[in-house]
Formats: sequence, structure tokens, C-alpha cells
Amino acid sequence: MNILSNAIDALLDQKAHSVKSKQIIIDTINIDDIYIKVAIRDNGYGIPSEIKNKLFDPFFTTKPVGKGTGLGLSIYYQIVDKH
Ligand SMILES: Nc1ncnc2c1ncn2[C@@H]1O[C@H](COP(=O)(O)OP(=O)(O)O)[C@@H](O)[C@H]1O
Ligand SMILES: [Mg+2]
Repeated sequence: MNILSNAIDALLDQKAHSVKSKQIIIDTINIDDIYIKVAIRDNGYGIPSEIKNKLFDPFFTTKPVGKGTGLGLSIYYQIVDKH
């Protein structure tokens, strides 16, 4: 849900309004008996490479005060880590 809500935020953002057909694509792939891969992508403005090493830090956000908490991806990281 955190990843999907980020995709929705990106697609609703003004900078992405020029995109004609807004898409969120979810791929689930069974890799072997142990691993599955879930890939979620949107066709919004994307994530600049200079912030990619901060995405999972608690409270890191590029959204305005009151909109972003910066907690979505850090919670996501902890859930995946526990699995
Ligand atoms: N789908 C996305 N498209 C563009 N930027 C994203 C996307 N997902 C995450 N980000 C970036 O990662 C940051 C951290 O995301 P997150 O931890 O969910 O916090 P928040 O959504 O509250 O800002 C966002 O502020 C944004 O800069
Ligand atoms: Mg978020």
C-alpha cells in the first residue's frame, strides 16, 4: 500500500499531468521455490538518482509539509527485512 500510494502521489502530481495515460503496473514473478519477485512501477516523473540512497531513511520526503511523512518506504523496508 505504501508503494502504491507513492505511485498514486506521483501520478497526481502536477509535474506528471502531461502524461496521457497514467499507469501503475504490478508484475509478480515466481523465481523459484523460495523467492518471489514483486515489481511495481508507475509512469510518473520517476525518482532522481541522487536521492536513491535516501529513499528508505525514516522521515526522508520530498513532499510538502503535511503531505509527506517520509515513513512509507522505511516501514516497507522493515516489513521486507523481517520476511
Ligand atoms: N513512485 C515514486 N515516484 C517518484 N518518487 C517517489 C516514488 N516513490 C517514492 N518516491 C520518493 O521517495 C520519497 C520517500 O517516500 P516515502 O518513504 O513513501 O515517504 P513520503 O511518501 O511520505 O514522502 C518520496 O518523498 C519521493 O521523493
Ligand atoms: Mg509514501
